[in-house]
Amino acid sequence: MPRIALIPGDGIGPEVTAEARKVLESVAASEGLALDLVQWPHGAQRYLDTGATITPEEMAELERDYDAIMLGALGDPRVPGNEHARDILLGLRFKLDLYINLRPVKLVDARFSPLKGVAAADVDMVIVRENTEGVYVGLGGTFKRGTPDELAIEEDVNTRKGVERIVRAAFAYAREHGRRRVTLADKANAMPNAGGLYRRVFAEVAREYGEITSSAMYVDAMAMDMVLHPAKYDVVVASNLFGDILSDLAAALAGGLGIAPSANLHPGKPGLFEPVHGSAPDIAGQDRANPLASVLTAALMLEHLGNAGAAARVEAAVDASIRAGATTPDLGGTLGTGAVGDWICRELEKGR
Ligand SMILES: NC(=O)c1ccc[n+]([C@@H]2O[C@H](COP(=O)([O-])OP(=O)(O)OC[C@H]3O[C@@H](n4cnc5c(N)ncnc54)[C@H](O)[C@@H]3O)[C@@H](O)[C@H]2O)c1
Repeated sequence: MPRIALIPGDGIGPEVTAEARKVLESVAASEGLALDLVQWPHGAQRYLDTGATITPEEMAELERDYDAIMLGALGDPRVPGNEHARDILLGLRFKLDLYINLRPVKLVDARFSPLKGVAAADVDMVIVRENTEGVYVGLGGTFKRGTPDELAIEEDVNTRKGVERIVRAAFAYAREHGRRRVTLADKANAMPNAGGLYRRVFAEVAREYGEITSSAMYVDAMAMDMVLHPAKYDVVVASNLFGDILSDLAAALAGGLGIAPSANLHPGKPGLFEPVHGSAPDIAGQDRANPLASVLTAALMLEHLGNAGAAARVEAAVDASIRAGATTPDLGGTLGTGAVGDWICRELEKGR
């Protein structure tokens, strides 16, 4: 039976995770799936009470005893340095070497796109972002800090192994999901060393996937084109920095944070599944948080655990709630967080 650690975390994290849990339990019951959902208390309150963020033993337990980790959100104004969030999120990402950041972006209803003249089917893409290298590794330093001659260096680290495994992950995802096109985003003109490595590896791997159309684009051109012609994009693979920026841009095209799920993966290890949004302290405790990103994150997790049918049913129920206007105020509805979760569970019941 798959064992799943639920870490609701801070702010709206517990509110949206409660709904995702409700939906998971509902779909599991109707599909005859057994899921062992274990709640973890980690977050700002525990850190403030005990001084502990996450211990090495707890990290080891998550790696050894769990099939997946589902996070709500981490971030609390009482912990301005965000130490607990950094230790837990980056800790898991690096300890488990979760090198694939998967961000599916799908527009359910054209009303929610900021683009005019776009049809829902025009925005349906998956950003595959490298999650462990690039400019985010923290290699570098400052010199003559605080003086007019200050210097800051942030190294961009790209290994052959790291580039190849993320490019392979993108093509494998495309093949598995019947997607037709993979586009590489880079900046090979201005950053020829990193860009050159990405382009060479991309061309090599593409040859193994003859049925998939492949092309490379400069990231600045892609950012513009993604807004003008979103239908051209199917699977996009990019380095840590470029993938970070493009995935937020793409999420905005499909209706924003309230419905954006993500997964951090390394085949063979427990994946970390989280909605893209943060802990939203401005609306926490008001029953206004949109739980759909968290529910869609649960669907991604189900799919990753080998339950594609259950995942598709959850996604269909979320689509139905959006189309019916059974949503929280951020999507123009009048329902509270819990009522949206209930609506989705009822929809799942109907489809039994
Ligand atoms: N993965 C994570 O846990 C994660 C990600 C981003 C930010 N954070 C943390 O969250 C805290 C708040 O950060 P922020 O304000 O920059 O980003 P945020 O995503 O929490 O909120 C941005 C805006 O979007 C709204 N929003 C976010 N999620 C929503 C939802 N589900 N339904 C309705 N509205 C929603 C918020 O009300 C806010 O106005 C900070 O402590 C930050 O460090 C955590």
